[in-house]
Amino acid sequence: MSVQTDIRGRTGVRPEHVNSWVYFDGDFVRYHDVRIGPMTHALHYGTGCFEGIRAYWNPEREQLFLLQAPAHYQRLERSARILRMELPHTTAELVELTVELLRRNGYREDAYVRPLLYVSAEQIGVKLHDLPQSFLIYTAPMGDYVDTETGIRCMVSSWRRISDSSMPARAKVTGAYVNSALAKSEALEHGFDEAIVLTHDGHVAEGSAENLFLYRNGQFVTPPVTDDILEGVTRGLLISFIREELGVPVVERSIDRTELYACQELFLCGTGAQISPVVEVDHRQVGDGRVGELTGRLQALYFAAVRGEDPKYQDWTIPVY
Ligand SMILES: Cc1ncc(COP(=O)(O)O)c(C=O)c1O
Repeated sequence: MSVQTDIRGRTGVRPEHVNSWVYFDGDFVRYHDVRIGPMTHALHYGTGCFEGIRAYWNPEREQLFLLQAPAHYQRLERSARILRMELPHTTAELVELTVELLRRNGYREDAYVRPLLYVSAEQIGVKLHDLPQSFLIYTAPMGDYVDTETGIRCMVSSWRRISDSSMPARAKVTGAYVNSALAKSEALEHGFDEAIVLTHDGHVAEGSAENLFLYRNGQFVTPPVTDDILEGVTRGLLISFIREELGVPVVERSIDRTELYACQELFLCGTGAQISPVVEVDHRQVGDGRVGELTGRLQALYFAAVRGEDPKYQDWTIPVY
């Protein structure tokens, strides 16, 4: 990650990235030239929505591959609609702006793209409609967000997932990430790597920032989109990719907590997490406690596809250079 901690323990952007190009309200500007006022609505009330997109560097082809940008911007459009907000550009324009921004920043390594639409009104008072909005895209170099090799240890969080009737998980809302942060901090402070969060009725929803798949009885299972999950782009890709490449059925259905303990393989997935095998949940080994055989195969195939090495999945990515 491109962050460091200063002497007061605050994290900030590394000095070499402060000069990076950012798209901000219609212009390409330097990161350090963006000014956001202390009264900004979104800063106080979490009134914004965002995306996280990856671009993978392929050293052999000297090419940066932007992964699933249209799908991410379509989700941003849906998030905005739920929040009574409006994007200033079409999906096609947003993809073009992102490619241009990555080119300007000249990455020759894996990178992360963070588009953010937020209520920029500098005033007190909570509402969503009829308020000024801003839109920015920030990029940074980014490696693994969580371990993808040895497997991670998870706990089932004591925090429940936000529900569609109060704070829709389907929309990627900035303020909603307090739910994720509570779960993640609890897991880390208890010595685990990641949290798995349940819905209010006790079904498995997802990780703090990842969707979840488990393998048992000859099929992969993932929670349905009606179980308070973010409708992950990676999840969507993997549902067909698993069927196609591994020849294994995938079922979308509610998952009981104890199926996490009974399954043979388990992994979390997402733009940040990629495919992150889980080897332990609540002190119970998953399978034999090592990265599952199918999960390992899936990772190898997936990483080849996202780096532009598998012509079959060429339409997943857009070359930046
Ligand atoms: C809560 C949550 N679930 C799932 C995901 C995975 O979604 P995607 O594959 O679109 O990155 C994310 C990633 O941002 C997330 O924050």
